[in-house]
Amino acid sequence: MTRRQVLAAGAAAATWLVSGGPAGAGACTGVCTTEADAGTLRAAACRRGRAFGSGVATGELANPEYADLVARQCAVVVPTWEMKWGQVHKAPDVFDFGSCDRLVAFARVNGLGVRGHTLVWHRNHPEWLPARLAGGGWRDILASHVATLCGRYRHAVCSWDVVNEAVEPEDGRSDGLRDSFWLKAAGFGYLRTAYELAAEYAPEAELVYNDYGCEGDARWNHRRRSAVLHLLERLKKAGVRVDALGMQSHLRVGDAFSTRSLGRFLADLADLGVKPIVTELEVRGDRIRGVHDKDRAVAALYRDYLETVLTRSNCDSVVTWGLSDRHSWRLDEDPTDRPLPFDSTLRAKPAYEALLAVFGK
Ligand code: G3I
Repeated sequence: MTRRQVLAAGAAAATWLVSGGPAGAGACTGVCTTEADAGTLRAAACRRGRAFGSGVATGELANPEYADLVARQCAVVVPTWEMKWGQVHKAPDVFDFGSCDRLVAFARVNGLGVRGHTLVWHRNHPEWLPARLAGGGWRDILASHVATLCGRYRHAVCSWDVVNEAVEPEDGRSDGLRDSFWLKAAGFGYLRTAYELAAEYAPEAELVYNDYGCEGDARWNHRRRSAVLHLLERLKKAGVRVDALGMQSHLRVGDAFSTRSLGRFLADLADLGVKPIVTELEVRGDRIRGVHDKDRAVAALYRDYLETVLTRSNCDSVVTWGLSDRHSWRLDEDPTDRPLPFDSTLRAKPAYEALLAVFGK
C-alpha cells in the first residue's frame, strides 16, 4: 500500500488513535518542522510560521490523485463532516468513529495536523439530542461527548472548533446569541462548560470559537462582529480559555468588503487577546461571467482578504473549505462556480498563485 493510500489500513491506524499517537499535538504549526515539497502552499505558509490546510471529507480521499494533492499542499486537514455529532454520536451511549478515524489516520501517515470540527453546533446533530438536553441532562451529555472525542483524538487534533456559530443577531436577543436548542436547554452555561471541558480533555490543543460573517462590510456583518466580540468578552470574563476566533471566511466577489473596517475588527480582537485564524475560506465568483474574469476576480479577493488578515494580525492558520472546485459545497448552488485554489481537474488556478504570493510576503 502506498504511503498516500492509508485509507485501506483505516482499522490498523484507528488502533493507533485509541492507544495514543505521538505526544504533543500542540498548535497546528507544529507540523511545519517536517520537510515540505518546495513550491507548495504548505511550504510557503510554513516558511512564515503559518499552517495552510483544507477541509476534507473521507470519501474524497479515495481518489489517489486528490489524496496526493491534499498530502502535498496541506499541513492541516479538517473533517468537513465526519467529526460532527450526527456522524459520531449516534445514540446517547453509542459512538461511531469509523469514517473519522480513517481521515485522522490519513493525516497521521502524511504528517498533517488535524483541526477538530466541531464539538458544539446547532446543526448536523442526531435526532435524539435536543430532547435529551432539554430534559435536564445537558451537562452530562456534553461532558460525555467532549471527553470521548478529545480523549480519542488528543494526540492528533492540534486545534478544536469547540463551539460553532453560537451568535445570531437576527434572533433578537440583547446578547446576540443564537436561540438554539443548546441555549434553550442550558443558557450561557453550555458555552462556558464547553470550553471548560475542552481545556480539561484537550489541554495541548488550541481552543477556538468558530463563526461566519465577520469578514465583510455590510450592516449584517457589523452586527455579527459586535455579537462575536460580546460573546468572546463574556467567555473571557467567565475565566475560560478561548485562544482564537475561527473566521470561516466564506467570501463572495461583489459583497461589501473594506480592508479598513476589517483591520479595525482585527484590532478589536487583539485588544481581547484573541488571535484570528481562517477556518473555511473560499471565494465565490458566481456574479462574474466568463472563466478568465471569474478566476481573476476570485484571486484578487483571496489576495486582498488574506493580505489584510495576515499583515494586521497574528493569524497563523489558513484553511480553505476544500482544495478543488470538484468538492466545493458551493457547486450545489452554482455548478459553474470556481471558489477554490484548484479546478475540478486538480489544475492550479490564479487563486493558488494569489495564496502563494500572500504567504510569501
Ligand atoms: O457523503 C454522504 C453520502 O454518502 C450520503 O448518501 C448523503 C445522504 O444525505 O450524505 C452525504 O454526506 C453529506 C456530507 O455533507 C458530504 O460531505 C451530508 O448529507 C451533508 O449534510 C454534509 O453537509 C456538510 C454541512 O456542513 C453539514 O454538516 C457539508 O459537507 C459541509 O461543507 C458544511 O460545512 C459547514 C461547516 O461545518 C460550518 N460552517 C458552514 C459550512 C457550510 O455549510
